[in-house]
Amino acid sequence: MPLYKKFNIGQSAQVYIWQITESFEDLFDEVYLKDISLVRVNNMKSLSHQKGFLSVRKLLQEAGYSDADLFYDETGKPNLIDGKLISITHSFEFSALIISQQVAGIDLEMQREKIITIAEKYMDTEYDFLPKEKELDFIQKSTVIWGVKESVFKIENQVGISFKEHISVFPFEMADGKTSAILTFENQVKEFKVQFEIVENYIVVVAFEK
Ligand SMILES: CC(C)(COP(=O)(O)OP(=O)(O)OC[C@H]1O[C@@H](n2cnc3c(N)ncnc32)[C@H](O)[C@@H]1OP(=O)(O)O)[C@@H](O)C(=O)NCCC(=O)NCCS
Repeated sequence: MPLYKKFNIGQSAQVYIWQITESFEDLFDEVYLKDISLVRVNNMKSLSHQKGFLSVRKLLQEAGYSDADLFYDETGKPNLIDGKLISITHSFEFSALIISQQVAGIDLEMQREKIITIAEKYMDTEYDFLPKEKELDFIQKSTVIWGVKESVFKIENQVGISFKEHISVFPFEMADGKTSAILTFENQVKEFKVQFEIVENYIVVVAFEK
């Protein structure tokens, strides 16, 4: 499948989403990989992770970059050599990235019932606005909240941040497609604006520092 979707957020951010329907071999043949990336792909334990990684290189090509333009810091955070900001996510059938002039984090999550069983590990104040019945709305909102916290973490990237204790998501409705969040960690208070959208059975979340 080619590019699934591409859209702009404001004047200076582009989001690219890939639906992974290709085989490993097809993806592998169509992208350039640096030696270090080749080693990474060969060491990945799951085919799904390998395809996610390769499909991100397809997205880089869509955005006018290649694996040669991407490097990682010691925490695994990706960077572009031209100084633009990038965030990456992949989950089973989809991958996505955002390229932006502003600091941004992106996360893709599959909507699944399993989230009900881990909800208490990462949510706290959000229970005030979540529906009591653990049905579709609960699953979707909990998935958005998880995605927001992952996206904020990708921006802040500091050891010790707890999703439950340090990141709070403000009330929202699924139809809004947006919300905001706050990080309170080690004497810092930072606010984030958030956009999300449903992509098939997944939810893609993008956070920007305000
Ligand atoms: C690093 C982390 C944010 C990755 O998120 P994920 O949902 O597992 O995976 P995603 O596919 O969405 O994102 C993976 C991408 O994030 C990027 N990434 C990895 N580490 C990163 C970091 N420290 N900061 C920012 N981005 C990072 C990479 O680009 C990676 O993909 P790539 O290596 O193939 O290029 C996540 O594993 C993590 O450590 N989260 C915080 C830990 C935590 O508190 N978890 C649970 C609390 S209840």
